[in-house]
Amino acid sequence: MYSEKVMDHFSNPRNVGEIENPSGVGTVGNAKCGDIMRMYLDVDENQVIQDVKFKTFGCGAAIATSSMATEMVKGRTIQQALEVTNKAVMEALDGLPPVKVHCSLLAEQAIHAALWDYAQKNNIKIEGLEPPVNDIEEIVEDED
Ligand code: FES
Repeated sequence: MYSEKVMDHFSNPRNVGEIENPSGVGTVGNAKCGDIMRMYLDVDENQVIQDVKFKTFGCGAAIATSSMATEMVKGRTIQQALEVTNKAVMEALDGLPPVKVHCSLLAEQAIHAALWDYAQKNNIKIEGLEPPVNDIEEIVEDED
């Protein structure tokens, strides 16, 4: 049911933890299943993401997609990080079962929420970044 890559990132997730004094932190949940994701970013003065960590109270698919998403945004610029959509993460993981697709939105949206927090703290506008949602159910309809 799950690809080898999903199983690998689920069993051995990368970048789990917290960043002290992060440049930005974002939390999103999924009211339907009760899962929660928090993402921490360390962004340097050139707007490059130097470090990223996540913590989740979430299902295996949420853990695997968050782990992969952190790998895909680490070392990238903010604009490149915005291109890391849940679809891109799922492709990198060789797919997810259809009922688990919504789980991959937690990582994408938590990264966006952390970027939003970073932008607020630094009084900048990030082109193409929408205000964050607290609950991914607010956008899940658009995805189906
Ligand atoms: Fe809740 Fe996967 S079942 S995020």
